[in-house]
Amino acid sequence: MTFLVLLGAPGAGKGTQAPILADRLGLPHVATGDLFRLAVHEGSAVGLEARRYMERGQLVPDSITVKMLLDRLAQPDAGGGAILDGFPRNLAQADILATALAERGSAVGVALEIEVPEAELVRRLSGRWICQANGHVYNESSHPPRVAGLCDLDGSTLIQREDDRRETVAARLAAQLSALREVVGYYRERGLLRTIDGLRPAAEVTEGLLAAARGAVGPGARSSEAKGRVG
Ligand code: AP5
Repeated sequence: MTFLVLLGAPGAGKGTQAPILADRLGLPHVATGDLFRLAVHEGSAVGLEARRYMERGQLVPDSITVKMLLDRLAQPDAGGGAILDGFPRNLAQADILATALAERGSAVGVALEIEVPEAELVRRLSGRWICQANGHVYNESSHPPRVAGLCDLDGSTLIQREDDRRETVAARLAAQLSALREVVGYYRERGLLRTIDGLRPAAEVTEGLLAAARGAVGPGARSSEAKGRVG
């Protein structure tokens, strides 16, 4: 089993990179932010509760987040591992994840940190656009769509996330960066941390992440790289 943790501040590029890593490594992409946005969209009780925190840029309480994540990891497609995007976000979550994986006879194989300075995070988040149908990620300056306002991949309308409003971006960074530093330290102390320079172009970040992840991918993952798709 191969569990990879993808770490990075809001706007570091986790959501850009995780689907590519998932495809290249043959692992499901499990993003707590996406699970919450789906719950909000569906109007479920979890979604209504989570929205109160997300729109203020705060972390959703562990009592909600942990159950949602563990339920997702119990699904069959995560039996061979997963790429965890946005979890863990604090030390309590990191400990709970370690315990839950140990109960399955597994563990986090590597924690990949995408490192980006704060000024660049603000610039990226305020220029981000997301496709309504599938969440494909664009940026006004670094990755614009071919046709303004429309997704290159599925043609759906591009929208801005509610929590990308300028005041919420500032609140998210203020509320979440210190907890992120603690989680980074947690994996560094255990010898599992690999840090990648997130200021490089996205394709180079991908290669850096893959190089760091390769050693951690076990036989359970259906790696597309193993099928000759490296590059
Ligand atoms: P979540 O969805 O996880 O959001 P986040 O961590 O704030 O991360 P983002 O999605 O904003 O950024 P990203 O790193 O994915 O960057 P992206 O690839 O889009 O969480 C949302 C909320 O849910 C949280 O605030 C919290 O309330 C709650 N939540 C989630 N998980 C939780 C948990 N475990 N516990 C408690 N609460 C939780 O890239 C950003 C922009 O930069 C894009 O426009 C992109 O095109 C561009 N870009 C990407 N890479 C590059 C590059 N190399 N060069 C130039 N531009 C780039």
